[in-house]
Amino acid sequence: MVLRRFGARSLGLLATVLCASLATHPASAQTAAAAAATPAAAGPAQGDLHRGKELSYTCLGCHGVDGYKNAYPNYSVPKLEGQHPEYLIAALQGYRSGDRSHITMHSQATTLSDQDIVDIAAYFAGKPLVSEHKPTGTPPQAAALCVTCHGQDGVTIAPMYPSLAGQHADYLTRALDEYKKGGRKNPIMSGFVANLTEAQIEEIAEYFSKQSPALKTEKRPFSTLTAEADKETEHK
Ligand code: HEC
Ligand code: HEC
Repeated sequence: MVLRRFGARSLGLLATVLCASLATHPASAQTAAAAAATPAAAGPAQGDLHRGKELSYTCLGCHGVDGYKNAYPNYSVPKLEGQHPEYLIAALQGYRSGDRSHITMHSQATTLSDQDIVDIAAYFAGKPLVSEHKPTGTPPQAAALCVTCHGQDGVTIAPMYPSLAGQHADYLTRALDEYKKGGRKNPIMSGFVANLTEAQIEEIAEYFSKQSPALKTEKRPFSTLTAEADKETEHK
C-alpha cells in the first residue's frame, strides 16, 4: 500500500520532470545546434558566402590557380582555403591600410568595403583547418616560440593567427622577410622575426610547409558552394 502510493508519486514526479525537460529541451537543443552550425556567428565573420563568391572573381585569377607565382620577386601566391575568416579579414585590412605592403593586394583591397571583406573572407576560408595533433617531424629549434601561436603542426591555436600548415615555403619565407624588413608592420610578428637568420627562416618555412592538414588553393566549384550556402540559410 505504502509502496504503491510511493510508486504512484514517483510516476507523477517522473511525468513532471519529463514534461519540464520536454518543454525546455527543444529550445536548448536548437540553441546548441545553431551554435554548432554557425561557429562564426559570434565573431565578426558573419559573411555571406554568395556575395563572397561573386566578389572573388578577380581574386581567383591568382588565388584559384595552383602554383601561380608573384613576379618580381618570384614567390608563390598564398593558399587561402583553410584559414580562419578572422585572419583573412585582418590580412585584407592590412593590405588596404598599408600595414602590409604589396602593390597588387593593396589595389585589390582598396576596392573592397568592410562588408565585402567579411563576405569574401567567409568564402575563401571555407572550413578552417582543425589540428590532428600529429606534427610531421620536430619543429626547428628557432620555431620553439612560434608553435605556441601557430601550432606544432602549423594549425593555428586562435582564429586571429594564420595557419601555416601546407602553405608554400617560398611564400612563408617571403612573409617572414617582410616582417623583418618592415614591409609588414605587424608589431607581434616583427618582434619574433627580428633575430632570425636567413637560414633559420628557410628551415622554419620548410618545416611548416610540410605539415598537415594543409591549407589549399581555392578549388571549390560554385555548385558545392551554392549547396553549402543554401544549407546555411535554411538553418537561420
Ligand atoms: C595578381 C594576383 C593577385 C590577385 C588578383 C589577388 N591576390 Fe591576394 N595575394 C597575391 C599575392 C602575391 C599575395 C602575397 C602578398 C604578400 O607578399 O604579402 C596575396 C595575399 C593575399 C592574402 C593574404 C594571405 C595570407 O596568408 O596572409 C589574402 C587574404 C588575399 N591575398 C586575398 C585576396 C583577395 C580577397 C583578392 C581579390 C579581391 C585577391 N587576393 C586578389 C596575389 C593576388
Ligand atoms: C603571439 C602569437 C604569435 C607568435 C608567438 C608568432 N606569431 Fe606568427 N603571426 C601571428 C599573427 C597575429 C600574425 C598575423 C600578422 C599580420 O597581420 O600580418 C602572424 C603571421 C605570421 C606569418 C604570415 C603568414 C601568412 O599567411 O602571411 C608567418 C609566416 C608567421 N607568423 C610565422 C611565425 C614564426 C616563424 C614565428 C616564430 C619565430 C611566429 N610566427 C611567432 C602571431 C604569432
